[in-house]
Amino acid sequence: MSHRHAPINPMCKNMLHGGDYNPDQWIRTPEIWDEDMRLMKLAGCNAASTGIFAWAALEPEEGKFTFDWLDTIMDKLAANKGYAVLATPSGSKPAWMSRAYPEVCRVNADGTRQPHERRHNHCRTSPVYREKCQIINAKLAERYKNHPALLLWHISNEYNGGDCHCDLCIEAFQNWLRKRYNNDIDALNHAYWAAFWAHTFPGFDYVRPTDRSIHCLMLDWERFKTYQTIDFYKDEIKPLRQHTPNVPITTNFMNGHDTLDYWAFAREVDFISWDSYPNWHEGNDVDEAVKTALLHDQCRTMKQGKPFLLMESVPSIPTRGRVKKRKEPGMHMLSSMQAVAHGGDGVLYFQWRKSRGCSEKFHGAVVDHEGSEHTREFKEVAEVGTALAKLDDVVGSSAQPEVALLLDWENGWAIREGARVFLGENCKYREECAAHYRPFWQMGVPVDVIDQNCDLSAYKMVVLPMAYMLRPGFADRLKGYVHAGGTAVMTYWSAIVDESDLCFLGGVPGDGLREVFGVWEEETQSYYPHETVPINPVKEIAEGLSGYYQAVDICSVVHAEGKTKILAEYGDHYFEGMPAVTVNNYGDGRAYYIAARTRGSMLSDLYGHLIKDLGLKRAIDTDLPHGVTAQVRGSAHEQHIFLMNFNAHTTDVLVGSGYVDILTGESVSKNVELEKYGVRVLRRTA
Ligand code: GAL
Repeated sequence: MSHRHAPINPMCKNMLHGGDYNPDQWIRTPEIWDEDMRLMKLAGCNAASTGIFAWAALEPEEGKFTFDWLDTIMDKLAANKGYAVLATPSGSKPAWMSRAYPEVCRVNADGTRQPHERRHNHCRTSPVYREKCQIINAKLAERYKNHPALLLWHISNEYNGGDCHCDLCIEAFQNWLRKRYNNDIDALNHAYWAAFWAHTFPGFDYVRPTDRSIHCLMLDWERFKTYQTIDFYKDEIKPLRQHTPNVPITTNFMNGHDTLDYWAFAREVDFISWDSYPNWHEGNDVDEAVKTALLHDQCRTMKQGKPFLLMESVPSIPTRGRVKKRKEPGMHMLSSMQAVAHGGDGVLYFQWRKSRGCSEKFHGAVVDHEGSEHTREFKEVAEVGTALAKLDDVVGSSAQPEVALLLDWENGWAIREGARVFLGENCKYREECAAHYRPFWQMGVPVDVIDQNCDLSAYKMVVLPMAYMLRPGFADRLKGYVHAGGTAVMTYWSAIVDESDLCFLGGVPGDGLREVFGVWEEETQSYYPHETVPINPVKEIAEGLSGYYQAVDICSVVHAEGKTKILAEYGDHYFEGMPAVTVNNYGDGRAYYIAARTRGSMLSDLYGHLIKDLGLKRAIDTDLPHGVTAQVRGSAHEQHIFLMNFNAHTTDVLVGSGYVDILTGESVSKNVELEKYGVRVLRRTA
């Protein structure tokens, strides 16, 4: 992984700033378009994601195209020194199409076809829909291929893994299964353990994705939906590649959700973009910051360190969250800089201007219904614009983490479909990943967020929370990694099933990992929220563990085998005295096993010890106060350090001298005072 990458489109070497721009909603009032240009300039916006839901305005009747309004907008953007992140409109189909070709609408599991309504609900298999998308996309590409405003392609909007049970999709699914199982129905029946409840399928044409009691079937359905969505996307981009081979292509991911396997998708896009909607001020902002940071890191990792684009974020008030709180002053700058700190080369919003009607009319926007630049929201966006303009040197630079954390979509689906039945509401896979990520975030240690196909050899440490389902070959690679000197930390509920969700025989962790970790996990116990189990470090060898810890939600009963050392043990319950944390020397490396989900400081104590012991690089060599993190971009001589305070109070960080604050131009000596939600971007002067 390199520290330096080319800008997303070398045509523009600046940070991007802007957002979803829907001029088609304002065709009746073109003076608003001129006002948009004036305001974009004032807000320091240079990128407008244009035409995302504009199909009805671009093709009001089948085959009748109306590009005049978009011509005007593209010209205005160019004249304003701005760019279009031009969208293909497939996220929302026009009404004439649903009436003329009902097959473009999805079908529910009970066979009813969905009416023409809402959006993001087209059938991904329908040949008609694919053809219509190619026609409109070709028109867009042909028309704007030489336009100076065309910077990037934004394909569709938030492709999702929603179900469509139409005959076309079911047939495509069955064909996909035929390929996956080499046309061998016995192989499918074995993978599905179909003898259970006499579910044996006589042929592929019997398989329908509705039976959640067959875990592997549901897993295959998720895999298929990712495959078919990517296939749809590949059709969408054909005309764009043909007419605009040099314009980079992306589609906005929702990687906080388990809807599609974005690792598979990442291979197909030129750069990653994603939509981030944390619920600030709803609960604990530090928790929210940790979850968001992990997702930003995942976006950077998905393209081997190449910077991503924050395609959507909210300037103030989201439509999500329980009470939908506005960002408090300072949070907009902080959350925008957070994206940049973790590898974002731009900050875009949903939305530029509030719509006057429909479901998002009160959603945060740079421009309010009031219409001027005098709102708090506008001013805070303009401040971000000013800050981004000072960060052009950061464009293309990346972190080079020495730690990797495994967060795997297929594993997430397997836990949702298979493990849910036994762990109930305690599954919380993503929450557990965030809990293991948090100590690194708090100590300013950059982390890559990998999946099971990634190469492990670049890392000094690999963290594997709840790695329940192992794909073929992963256990062997992990084994080789530890044997060659790597450090692995794995938790309870790992290495239990293979990629068909069939349990490994011979004990957990399976697939050869019992030998590596030197433990046998005999039982797993799930607990109610009021129940806890004490964990006591074994003082003489505790590797950073000290004090009193608690297990919550899930405890595993584990036997240490061979020379495995016990670092901590349970202090109560029928498994009192049995291992809770262990370490095994395997080859030249070490394999740690954490048998329970814990609350309190156990993970930060253990990882804090390992960070020191392995000499893992930190963004800045100082202890960071609670809720403050430091992230780094670039290599030693051209490094930018982002110090961010997610606390609602001021706090000091001792950074030492030799830095300049890029945002204020002030040089920094010793202490940096970070106000409530404060952020500093530091660069070494020497
Ligand atoms: C996103 C979507 C946008 C807008 C936004 C509102 O998921 O892509 O079009 O609906 O949510 O928060």
